[in-house]
Amino acid sequence: MYSLLSISKHLILISILAVVAVQLLLTHSVSCLNMTNAYIHHKCYITQGKYEPGSEYEEHLTSIAQTISSTKDLSKGYVMMGFTGDGIFVSVIVQCRGDSHGPKCHSCYATALSGLRRRCPKYKGGIVWYEHCLLEFSGNDTQYQNDYDNNFCMHNPKNVSDDQVDVNNSFNRKWTILLSNLTRKAIKIENNDLTPLYAAGERNFGKYKIYGMVQCTLDITIKGCQECIGHNMVEFQDCLYGKRGGRVLGRSCNFRFELYPFVPNSLKM
Ligand SMILES: *[C@@H]1O[C@H](CO)[C@@H](O)[C@H](O)[C@H]1NC(C)=O
Ligand SMILES: *[C@@H]1O[C@H](CO)[C@@H](O)[C@H](O)[C@H]1NC(C)=O
Ligand SMILES: *[C@@H]1O[C@H](CO)[C@@H](O)[C@H](O)[C@H]1NC(C)=O
Ligand SMILES: *[C@@H]1O[C@H](CO)[C@@H](O)[C@H](O)[C@H]1NC(C)=O
Ligand SMILES: *[C@@H]1O[C@H](CO)[C@@H](O)[C@H](O)[C@H]1NC(C)=O
Repeated sequence: MYSLLSISKHLILISILAVVAVQLLLTHSVSCLNMTNAYIHHKCYITQGKYEPGSEYEEHLTSIAQTISSTKDLSKGYVMMGFTGDGIFVSVIVQCRGDSHGPKCHSCYATALSGLRRRCPKYKGGIVWYEHCLLEFSGNDTQYQNDYDNNFCMHNPKNVSDDQVDVNNSFNRKWTILLSNLTRKAIKIENNDLTPLYAAGERNFGKYKIYGMVQCTLDITIKGCQECIGHNMVEFQDCLYGKRGGRVLGRSCNFRFELYPFVPNSLKM
């Protein structure tokens, strides 16, 4: 039947430990954060084409999606399930944000599942991003490789220079250092970091604070994670530089920086 396409056992163990830690931390949850699981963006994988109603592809896709809904433990914040055989490949990947494990991940998955089905009807593949998770269907194996085809950038409409926030023109340097340091932290899984390939932190910026977050999907290697974030920080400079906040999302990694907190439990950096 369906199998969990394997990821490192080490990561799984660490993720299970993370649930406990996250639950403990959530008891101090920050009330000023916007906890809405808003829709962000989607993309239908048009080149993979559509499946016929009643086809084997549809059957497997539906079955995998239901298996994840009903029996899969989303405490890890990550699931990849697939079927290969009879000349077809089907996979479903869910990656929740580092602070959204267990029930929150389940609820994001449910929202994303109906959202992706509605937005990409009958497409064999597609991807949708919500605040708390991403969901991908694919008729091609997308595991273990950095995907650079589905990245996109969003930024705060305000320039950082408005209202003299950036009196010293150092904002770009400060957030890039913060995100680089967070990336180093995210990939140090053995250093008591209980949420693999995820880190959120903040650092002072004059009388302000910059908040940052980085995350890679759990099928990406440590090296791949670093490359993905580094690549996107350079690739999307035009979108991000000079803005008060911005984010790049993709299939393999995402990051964000803002002058306000947007995830709970950020570390002082
Ligand atoms: C929370 O975020 C959503 C989506 O970005 C927005 O529509 C909503 O107004 C926000 N709510 C608050 C209280 O900021
Ligand atoms: C999927 O894989 C097939 C066969 O390897 C390839 O021909 C096709 O271009 C791939 N499609 C996408 C969207 O990557
Ligand atoms: C922000 O700065 C850019 C470049 O200097 C300028 O083109 C743009 O109009 C500014 N946007 C706002 C909202 O002030
Ligand atoms: C600007 O530079 C001054 C002097 O180095 C420093 O005290 C101040 O905190 C800086 N402001 C910001 C927003 O970084
Ligand atoms: C962040 O990285 C910079 C450059 O490597 C380093 O100088 C700084 O100490 C780091 N800061 C933190 C808080 O890790």
